[in-house]
Amino acid sequence: MNFIEINNVNKTFFKNTNREHHALKNINLKINRGDFITIVGGNGAGKSTLLNALSGNFLVDSGKIFINNIDVSLMSEHKRAKYISRVFQNPLYGTAPRMTVCENMALAYRRGEKRGLKLGVTEENKKYFTEQLSSLNLGLENRLHTEIGLLSGGQRQAISLLMATIKNPDLLLLDEHTAALDPKTQKIIMDITDKKIKDKNITALMITHNIQDALKYGNRLIVLNQGEIIKDFNKEEKEVLTRNDIYNILDEL
Ligand SMILES: Nc1ncnc2c1ncn2[C@@H]1O[C@H](COP(=O)(O)OP(=O)(O)OP(=O)(O)O)[C@@H](O)[C@H]1O
Ligand SMILES: [Mg+2]
Repeated sequence: MNFIEINNVNKTFFKNTNREHHALKNINLKINRGDFITIVGGNGAGKSTLLNALSGNFLVDSGKIFINNIDVSLMSEHKRAKYISRVFQNPLYGTAPRMTVCENMALAYRRGEKRGLKLGVTEENKKYFTEQLSSLNLGLENRLHTEIGLLSGGQRQAISLLMATIKNPDLLLLDEHTAALDPKTQKIIMDITDKKIKDKNITALMITHNIQDALKYGNRLIVLNQGEIIKDFNKEEKEVLTRNDIYNILDEL
């Protein structure tokens, strides 16, 4: 069995009403450990819905999802969070704005541990978080006690990424996580993303409308359209793909 398997997954919203929408149509995807898959497709293609199905935002109508041999199909989103981390487009999601950088990182660091444990942050924790922040090269190591809500969107996305990867998740889901950032910050965040994924051998799915990024990063590229995976390029195929190839695929839909 592959590290992650999505087998014959279907999801229809508003079933049996005039708004019925078959958002995921018999999706099959087998993912190896360490795969970094970029996902492209037009608005409404079902990209976010696919990530939502994986994270347990809703239960699928049929089919099964396995993560590291565990059938998570009926598992709640809360329980799946033990295996899955997400970073969203909006830098306001994923962090608690009124809490400090240190407190936010402590929450991420303790994820999956039993509740009720003392919430204190040890000196050792602080040292580790400072080292982690330093590795971003954004000067954030001096902002450990700043409220996260006071940081810029790019700074927050960088910290969100740290938090999402601090516990080595089985699966990292990135939903247009650089889309709200300026071009220079997009590049910084993509470099951090790529480095984290490679260093920790994380398995990741990344949705992007930036075709250049979809081609540059990752070892596999899939194209979604109307709830279906219409293309699935492996490493070798992806290496020779050009931006025009992708534009042509998307134009012809
Ligand atoms: N929770 C939901 N309830 C009802 N309909 C939904 C829900 N989530 C998604 N949809 C519908 O499913 C379709 C796919 O939406 P999805 O958000 O997956 O698109 P997307 O590929 O991520 O697009 P974009 O590039 O705009 O983010 C859309 O028609 C959307 O309205
Ligand atoms: Mg989306």
